[in-house]
Amino acid sequence: MTDQFAKKGEAWSARFSEPVSDLVKRYTASVFFDNRLAQVDIQGSLAHAEMLAHQGIISAADHAEIQRGMAQIKGEIDAGKFEWLLDLEDVHLNIEKRLTELVGDAGKRLHTGRSRNDQVATDIRLYMRGAVDDIVGLLRELRLALLDLAEQHADVILPGFTHMQVAQPITFGHHVLAYVEMFGRDAERMLDARKRINRLPLGAAALAGTTFPIDRLRVAKTLGFDDVCRNSLDAVSDRDFAIEFCAAAALVMTHISRMSEELVIWMSPRVGFIDIADRFCTGSSIMPQKKNPDVPELARGKTGRVNGHLIALLTLMKGQPLAYNKDNQEDKEPLFDTVDTLTDTLRIFADMARGISVKPDAMRAAALQGYATATDLADYLVKKGLPFRDAHEAVAHAVRTCVDKGCDLADLSLDELRAFSELIGEDVFAVLTLEGSVAARDHIGGTAPNQVRAAIAHIRKELN
Ligand code: ARG
Repeated sequence: MTDQFAKKGEAWSARFSEPVSDLVKRYTASVFFDNRLAQVDIQGSLAHAEMLAHQGIISAADHAEIQRGMAQIKGEIDAGKFEWLLDLEDVHLNIEKRLTELVGDAGKRLHTGRSRNDQVATDIRLYMRGAVDDIVGLLRELRLALLDLAEQHADVILPGFTHMQVAQPITFGHHVLAYVEMFGRDAERMLDARKRINRLPLGAAALAGTTFPIDRLRVAKTLGFDDVCRNSLDAVSDRDFAIEFCAAAALVMTHISRMSEELVIWMSPRVGFIDIADRFCTGSSIMPQKKNPDVPELARGKTGRVNGHLIALLTLMKGQPLAYNKDNQEDKEPLFDTVDTLTDTLRIFADMARGISVKPDAMRAAALQGYATATDLADYLVKKGLPFRDAHEAVAHAVRTCVDKGCDLADLSLDELRAFSELIGEDVFAVLTLEGSVAARDHIGGTAPNQVRAAIAHIRKELN
């Protein structure tokens, strides 16, 4: 084997009689985005080389040379000194070519029993495993920050809404814990996706496996995979694990976006429930009085692109016959952008959760408007023996009267209240207070402050 075909900057071989145009080169190349996989590509190659040597497919001397060359390449990449060549199309060919420059024939032997098809699938899985672990860690940080916020305001009362109409009084701690639950399920989903990410495609080679006596389980063990992909065609071609990850990511962003929507509404001067620390807000170039909740607004907006990436990957996959097709090169940018958007967003939100200041007076004032304790009055009548539907009707009349008079239920006198039901007694005023209302919802998952505290303790234990 001589060097005569492998001219620098030319990826292909004697099979081709004319070079591709510059435009096609640029169109087909992925090196300017997939070089993000460099570290995992080297990691995968080293595991492969170790196995080849162990199986006697390459010599120990070649293995040592590959290790030496890869160490140097890693150093060059870390130092930003590695020269990425468009002519060499992708991260894999760039690194392999440099390896051959550095260690000669040993470098050319690395690709024995392997294809870029199983190589890239391995790289993506290694990369995603790391990304999932980061994201799970960030979800934990965010949940811890939200737990602190919930704990500080476990007793603060605000109106709970349905249809954006005042429904029943709730505690702010309880409201925040709803998001802690959502982000908890998001972490579960990520960890579940990780199980299917963490299987080794290497050994599938181009599509059918290889004629060399490889040991796939050995490579899997070296790289920390739980298992190997059991069908070579499937191993090189499907990206369902990436789609699953994007679906889980889209749900994270959906939850972030819902929370953002609330933060924006709550910070509006018309509502005034919270303030967000200045470092997450910006002003207006024209209106000097403005302080805008940019971070939650942007997060709400970025949810769109993450949802878009999910659709992009689903669409990418749906028309592909077995096995590998170049379409799959298009999986990377959506995936990388999903990871970047998610990690940045979660990091910022964990910090921002600690920059939210709550305005209990405004929340309380809002809860006092809108007949938030009407259900409590109905429940009170039911406990005195009235069937629920009748109680509902009696209270509807009472609310109607209050609307006409422009007052709250608690402002009516006992006599006025008794006009709606004889069953009402002096003890009614306890259930018409906001504190009485929330304290009465005293069961697992209810809004009572002591239930909020119990839920916080429960989740903290789970997180530690
Ligand atoms: N850059 C390619 C990708 O991202 C690597 C695999 C290429 N394989 C091939 N047969 N062209 O999918």
